[in-house]
Amino acid sequence: MFPKALPTRKRRRTEVASVGGRDEVKFRDVTLFLVEKRMGKSRRNFLSNLARSKGFCLDDALSADVTHVVSEGNAAQELWSWLEEQGFREMQDKHVLHISWFTESMSAGRPVPPEIRHYIQNPAVDQRSRTNPSAKPESALSPYACQRRTTMDNHNKIFTDALEVLAENLELGGNQGPSLAFRRAASVLKSLPAALRHLQETQHLPCLGEHSRAIIEEIFEYGSSSRVEEILNDERYRTMKLFSSVFGVGPKTSESWFCRGLRSFEQVLSEPSVRLNRMQTAGFLFYEDISKPVSRTEASALKIIVEEAVISVNPSATVSITGGFRRGKEFGHDVDFIIKTPEAGQEDVILTAVIERFKSQNILLYSDFQESTFDLRQLPTHCFEAMDHYSKCFLIIKLKREQETDARAGRDWRAVRVDLVAPPLERFAYALLGWTGSTLFERDLRRFARLERGKLLDNHTLYDKATNTFLPANTEEDIFAHLGLEYIEPWQRNA
Ligand code: CTP
Ligand code: MN
Ligand code: MN
Repeated sequence: MFPKALPTRKRRRTEVASVGGRDEVKFRDVTLFLVEKRMGKSRRNFLSNLARSKGFCLDDALSADVTHVVSEGNAAQELWSWLEEQGFREMQDKHVLHISWFTESMSAGRPVPPEIRHYIQNPAVDQRSRTNPSAKPESALSPYACQRRTTMDNHNKIFTDALEVLAENLELGGNQGPSLAFRRAASVLKSLPAALRHLQETQHLPCLGEHSRAIIEEIFEYGSSSRVEEILNDERYRTMKLFSSVFGVGPKTSESWFCRGLRSFEQVLSEPSVRLNRMQTAGFLFYEDISKPVSRTEASALKIIVEEAVISVNPSATVSITGGFRRGKEFGHDVDFIIKTPEAGQEDVILTAVIERFKSQNILLYSDFQESTFDLRQLPTHCFEAMDHYSKCFLIIKLKREQETDARAGRDWRAVRVDLVAPPLERFAYALLGWTGSTLFERDLRRFARLERGKLLDNHTLYDKATNTFLPANTEEDIFAHLGLEYIEPWQRNA
C-alpha cells in the first residue's frame, strides 16, 4: 500500500506521511513506529492510515528518526528484548508506549503528552536509578486507612478502578470477605502521593496481595487487565450492576431477578411475579433523576432547603453536610445531612416535623422515616451493624432547577436523594465521624480501635474494654485523641 523503498530520508518523511498526496504532516517533532508483532499486519496498516490521515508522521522501519514506539499486546520483557536487538536504546526523547497513548492521541487529533501510565517500562533497568529519593519510603504506610491521609487526588485511578471492579464483582456475588482485600489494595494506592511507575514500587506497600499485584502487573504490561475486561463484559455482572443501581434494590434482589432470567428494567417491570416494595417503586419512578450524580452546587442548594425547614421547627438546631460532600467530593449519589439539636429529646421529633414541612411545600417525593431505637443501656454493642440506632430518614426531594426546565415533562425540578440523621447531642461527634465516611475509613477506624487499642468504636460511642468505661467526646478530634491517632481531616478520609 505504501512505497517500500524511498530515495532519501528527507523526502521519505513527507512522502510516507502523505498517502496519495492528501495527508499533510502536522506534527514534525513526532515520528511514530507501530510494532507489528501481536498487532498484526492488517491492523498495523489500518492504524497507520488513520494516523497519517490525522497528520502524524510514521516510519515503517525502526529508524533513528522514530520518537514514539507504540506496541499492543506485547509483554514488556519481550518488547524490550526485541527493541534492544534492533539497536533501540532508552533515551530522554524516545518513548515506548502502550497502544492507549496512540488511541488517545487519535481521538485528541494530536500527540497527547505521554503520561506514566502510557509507558512500557524496560524491566531490565535497575529500579534504584528510578526511585524518587524525595518520596517517603513506602514501608512507612500504615495498613490502616485511618492512619493514612487520602484526598480526592487519586494518582493511580487506572489501577484503583480495576481493583474496585474486582471488589464489586465479588460483593455482587455475596463474597464480602474476599472483596475487602481488593478494596484495601485500592485504598492504599489512593493514598500514594504520585502514580506508581513500576510494579516493584508495590513491593513495600501494605495490603497488596498477590492477586492485586498480578492485576497491577498486567496493567503495566498491557495497559489493561484481561480479568477486569472479562468482568466488565460479563452478563451477570452487567445485569446485577444495572439492577442494584435502582434505589432499594440490593445484591439479593438483583440476583433473584437475574436468576429468573430478567435482564432489563422492561423485563423486571413486566414480570408478573416481581413485587416491588415502596422503596423500589420510587427507585424506578425517579430512576432517571436519581441515577444522575448530584453536584456540589445542588448539595448547597439542598442545604438551604433543609436548614430552612429545620430552623422553622427548632430555631436552635443546626444542619451540617456530611458524607461524601464533607470529604470534598464534587459529586455524590445523594446528599447527607446531620442535625444537631441542643435540647435532649428534640432529635426524636425534629425529623417528622421536617418531613411534614417538605410535604406541605409539595417537594417530598418519597420518605422512609426510621424512628430512633437508640438505648444507652444496650451499649457497647459488639456487633458492628451497618445501621446505627438514631432517628433518620431516607428521602427523595424535588430540587428546583437553576436554568433549563424539562420542557418535555413540563417540570422545573429534578429528584434528589437526601439522607437526614438526628443523633442526641452527646452522641453528635460519634455520629458525625461515622456518617462522614468513607466506608473503608470507618471500617478501619473500628478495626484499629479494637485490634490496636482494645476499644470498641461505632456511630454511638467509644468504649474502653480495659477499664470498662465509655470515653466521652464532644468533637471528632476527641475521638482520634482517645485512640492515640493523629487527627485526619474529613477531606483526607477518602480511603
Ligand atoms: N452511614 C452510616 N449509617 C447509615 C448510613 C450511612 O453510618 N445508616 C455512613 C456510611 O458508612 C458512609 C456515610 O454514612 O460512611 C455516607 O454514606 P453514603 O451516602 O452511602 O456514601 P457517601 O460516602 O456519601 O458517598 P456518595 O457520595 O456516593 O453518597
Ligand atoms: Mn452520600
Ligand atoms: Mn447517604
